[in-house]
Amino acid sequence: MKRTCFIALLCLTCCIHAFAQNNNLILREDNIDEILKAMTTEEKVALLVGAPGASVPDAAGYTHEIERLGIPMTVLADGPAGLRIRSTREGTDQTFYCTGFPTSTLLASSWDPEVVETVTTAMGNEVLEYGVDVLLAPGMNLHRNPLCGRNFEYYSEDPLLSGKMAAAYVRGIQKNGVGTSVKHFAANNQEINRLENDARVSNRALRELYLKNFEIAVKEGKPWTVMSSYNKLNGDYTQQSQGLLTTVLRDEWGFDGIVMTDWGVKDNTVKAAKAGNDLMEPGRPVEEERLLAAVNSGEISQEELDRNVRNILNYIVKTPHFRHYKFSNKPNLEANATVARRAAENSIVLLKNEDNTLPLKGNEKVALYGICSVDFVGIGTGSGWVNTKHIANMQEALSEAGFALDENLTEYYRLCYATQTATEKMEGRNIDKRHRQEPTVSLKSIERQAQDNDVAVIVLGRVAGEGADRVVPDDFELTAIEREMLQNISMNYHKEGKNVVVVLNTVGVVETASWKHLADAIVLPWAPGQEGAHAVAEVLKGKVNPSGKLPMTFPVNYMDNPSSKNFPYTWDMTQGRRGNRKNVDYTDYEEGIWIGYRYFQTNNMEVSYPFGYGLSYTTFSYSKPKVKADKEGFTATITVTNTGKVAGREVVELYVAAPAGDLEKPARELKAFAKTKLLAPGESETLTMKVSAYELASFNEEHSAWETAAGTYQVLFGASSIDIRSTASFRIGKAQSWPVKMMW
Ligand code: BGC
Repeated sequence: MKRTCFIALLCLTCCIHAFAQNNNLILREDNIDEILKAMTTEEKVALLVGAPGASVPDAAGYTHEIERLGIPMTVLADGPAGLRIRSTREGTDQTFYCTGFPTSTLLASSWDPEVVETVTTAMGNEVLEYGVDVLLAPGMNLHRNPLCGRNFEYYSEDPLLSGKMAAAYVRGIQKNGVGTSVKHFAANNQEINRLENDARVSNRALRELYLKNFEIAVKEGKPWTVMSSYNKLNGDYTQQSQGLLTTVLRDEWGFDGIVMTDWGVKDNTVKAAKAGNDLMEPGRPVEEERLLAAVNSGEISQEELDRNVRNILNYIVKTPHFRHYKFSNKPNLEANATVARRAAENSIVLLKNEDNTLPLKGNEKVALYGICSVDFVGIGTGSGWVNTKHIANMQEALSEAGFALDENLTEYYRLCYATQTATEKMEGRNIDKRHRQEPTVSLKSIERQAQDNDVAVIVLGRVAGEGADRVVPDDFELTAIEREMLQNISMNYHKEGKNVVVVLNTVGVVETASWKHLADAIVLPWAPGQEGAHAVAEVLKGKVNPSGKLPMTFPVNYMDNPSSKNFPYTWDMTQGRRGNRKNVDYTDYEEGIWIGYRYFQTNNMEVSYPFGYGLSYTTFSYSKPKVKADKEGFTATITVTNTGKVAGREVVELYVAAPAGDLEKPARELKAFAKTKLLAPGESETLTMKVSAYELASFNEEHSAWETAAGTYQVLFGASSIDIRSTASFRIGKAQSWPVKMMW
């Protein structure tokens, strides 16, 4: 009987296939159900598992082609600061460089979604023109701790800023008819033991912080895909979490794209597929075998299988490969370099400017110090890297901007750089600036240079990237050589009545409190992409008035961050992946919602530079604001006037201090922000910001609900999180609540 059934089934399948072939059934946007019916289980399963591929060298992954049904393969490639593919190919002299745009932390410092969208509109065109269907970006985990090695791929310690930036990023890329993958979903806030670490996070902290930014990006950006992370979240791998991938992401937020795994194989493929993780990347045959066995045994139901396959087909019909797009392999790299440069100009943060040290006049003789003045940190390492043709350095940029450089000094650094690079190559080491030695400059030379030059510019650099977190000594903190150099330069230049400017060319936050008094001005371009050095030069010269603000807090000491207590920064990578130090296997997010300014502000803690801080070469006044509230939320308007002597842009940060209700609340939380256009001296602009009642809510774990308390809400308009220029208030008469399903 069994045998008869089997033969009948086989005949039926063959008939369907013959029918499909005879009728030339090929995938269209409107025949997905028909295609599903025509697919064999093997074909369906293949579609759920990534495929090997080589059409775009160094692309991260592919999806399977099923030729007989006209289902094309699609191509997935990294990453946040630009497309990462190999720049040269065998058998051709043609090159395939991509633009290295400013890294995400710098983009967030613009506080301007338009800047981000302009960047990613250009970036998305490179994705399209190089034959890629999905860019594996934006990275958008929160800056829970300054040592996370991938923070440069992420935006901010604040979920609203992070979410708005990511949504703008997604819109820009997807305008080109290619997709994005917001990653890494979720709570992937450290690199150490990233494949296995269990992030143990309260529901409130998850909802208000670590999921909130994804919620905004998904709802406002509508990404084609989401990438689940490597780590576990409260015991389950995120890629196997039904609560995360289905209950929250799809049912609650309305996500209708595909979820793909991050690039590692976990054992429980079946659990992942059932939880709503549609695509396993990069894909291994064993995953297909597991899925096939589970479908055959009924562990994965036909509906579950079809649900995931349908999601993938819905994705495929949107791709350039499906449209047979004839990509050129020739995006306009020249035009995109300009986009990258403008974005950096709109984002650089001025941290200190004692007695208007900056801008310089432009004709000064500059003594340029620091190995990173030659080996400029444009981007971080790992999958966030981009193969650009060239990354401009500060030597080139300052010369091009018209400054006269102390040639002996620049030659010295060029030589040191060449020697270090040659040694690294000889030893077969990866070029990694964490191993780059800052050369010493003798006190005698500094004395002479201080006499011969008009100003000292010191570039201090830090690199990090995927697979490793940063450490405190010699990384978060300055090295002994850097400190000594800074002290000697400061002493000697000040003796000569000359100024010292520090350029912080770092992928993440560094300690500044102990040495900032040694510098007259500090400029923070982060890792600003291939053109960023030019943007720094324009800021130094005053051709560009800086308007960036910090997307995170600079603490006085590393241990001031509450998350530092549970960040395994002392773990020694040489001991192997599974060391048994505290918080390697799991990380307690014991600090709950108290990260960044939420903690520092509420506890009146001194910080080195607060969240939202950044100086300008001009000044701005804020008018009395107007706040109009109703039961939908409130609308605020405020007029900003440029009261200084040069044109500039100002970011207005809207914070809300909410009544406690049943919950402990941060002293203030960012609820909206807006940036003026370039205002001429004397010019004003009225900014309007809207906040919905839902956006005002805090998460009550006991009720599993978002809740706004009744009472008086203070609305604070700040130039930073502590520099509040204007306030208003409104009342909510009746508490409101938005219940949600429990995730676990
Ligand atoms: C990273 C992802 C990246 C993927 C593909 C993974 O190791 O975590 O961010 O997109 O590799 O390169």
